[in-house]
Amino acid sequence: MRDHFESRDADAAGRIGRLEIPRADRTVETPALMPVINPNRLTIEPARLAAEFGVEILITNAYIIRETESLREQALDEGLHEMLGFDGAIMTDSGSFQLSEYSDVEVTTAEIIEFQHAIGSDIGTPVDIPTPPDVSREQAESELATTQQALADAEGLDVDEMLLNAPVQGSTYPDLREDAATHAAETDLDVFPIGAVVPLMNSYRYDDMVETVAAAKRGLGADCPVHLFGAGHPMMLALAVALGCDLFDSAAYALYARGGRYLTVAGTQQLDELDYFPCSCPICGERTPADLRNEDDETQTRLLAEHNLHVTFEELRRIKQAIRSGNLLELVERRARGHPAMYDGYRALLDHADQLEAEDPVSKGTFFATSAESARRPEVRRHHDRLNRLSTPDRLLLTESGVPDTDAYDAVWRVKPPFGPFPRALAESYPLTATVPDRTDRAAECAAAEGVRTLVAANPETAFTLTVAAWHPDAKKRIPDRVSVEPLSAIHQSGSAED
Ligand code: GUN
Ligand code: ZN
Repeated sequence: MRDHFESRDADAAGRIGRLEIPRADRTVETPALMPVINPNRLTIEPARLAAEFGVEILITNAYIIRETESLREQALDEGLHEMLGFDGAIMTDSGSFQLSEYSDVEVTTAEIIEFQHAIGSDIGTPVDIPTPPDVSREQAESELATTQQALADAEGLDVDEMLLNAPVQGSTYPDLREDAATHAAETDLDVFPIGAVVPLMNSYRYDDMVETVAAAKRGLGADCPVHLFGAGHPMMLALAVALGCDLFDSAAYALYARGGRYLTVAGTQQLDELDYFPCSCPICGERTPADLRNEDDETQTRLLAEHNLHVTFEELRRIKQAIRSGNLLELVERRARGHPAMYDGYRALLDHADQLEAEDPVSKGTFFATSAESARRPEVRRHHDRLNRLSTPDRLLLTESGVPDTDAYDAVWRVKPPFGPFPRALAESYPLTATVPDRTDRAAECAAAEGVRTLVAANPETAFTLTVAAWHPDAKKRIPDRVSVEPLSAIHQSGSAED
């Protein structure tokens, strides 16, 4: 375990953890969402964030404070917590985005971290370079070298109790991301933000976001607390948590509110296009969209921002409960149904089922198969791995429906799409207790056929007989030739069926 982070409950690669923040003298439960505070423009007062939204940690920008004389003086004089009126934990960003985009100011990592320390930040950030997606490999490599130097510079500083971020860059090159992450995890820095994913999310490239995070996670391993920089839209939180992200920051709640945009777990809506609110938060419960449109601009923005935060924190609680209940992937799947880009993200996540499987707990609540995609879940993968190791008697009947009582076989195993065959002894254990639809689909049948293939390959001495209902031809094609496939009726004649 890393010194300041401990993971408690897990589901897929997601976890409920505790991040200890010594300088703030508190521990924050993760996954946590840090509202972004623009110190020049407080959409919602930080004290209200703590009191009304339960915010324990927020993030603000040290660069903006340092470049604004009045703020700089005040922050140095009374400290960040007093200035913002917030007594929780505060993370500060170095302003790398601002520095790389439109500033001719040069600030070194040593200078900006010293400043962050001086104003009382609890978690500081070096000057990394947020390399955008799709740049040349040469650019990604050379900027990554600069970022790595910034981490080394940060490591050499004396910041006593302040924690430090070690941003992971590498553009859209998974191997660079993985190397960058391995390198970051080898430093003694504390928190690991995955950087420069905002452009991917702004253009709805959630599959590329998943590839990027999965690569970084391979390098970081399971022990590091991971922050997904600039991510806070409620529709993508479940997906990002399932990948193993622990911290998020939301500027969206305020930025979107200014554009009259209303966040939901299935995407963004324009307030102007709503006749009804799909939400019962304190803002939406008391008014109609028309009422909100009638407010003056400033009030409308504040109220929209409040709704946006309510819906975001509600989703975060739902995610934590899903981790506890062991049905996080079912939640990710529901979110995938809300937006095509999220569906792409979910499918990309399942491309990494092996990686998720390594951290997924062996036993959870009930597995619900609710789409063709369920066939690719890590639990199915794990069962197939297990089939490789199960030994079988001389004559084995595999059957999808009721198990007949017959002595033509030494044993009878159920076949359950998408898992495939399993012995009676496993019937009551996760994930074979899964609730699956009666009308199985092609993907589930193909996955079950893969399970049969695996078992047959692992047991060359056994004579296998298989009876299944009308499987899709693609699934039937996967059954090895040496398996004798018989119609259900042939088996039932020789005995009575039981459940
Ligand atoms: N905010 C959003 N993305 C980034 C990033 O890559 N680096 C830093 N420092 N801040 C960010
Ligand atoms: Zn609402």
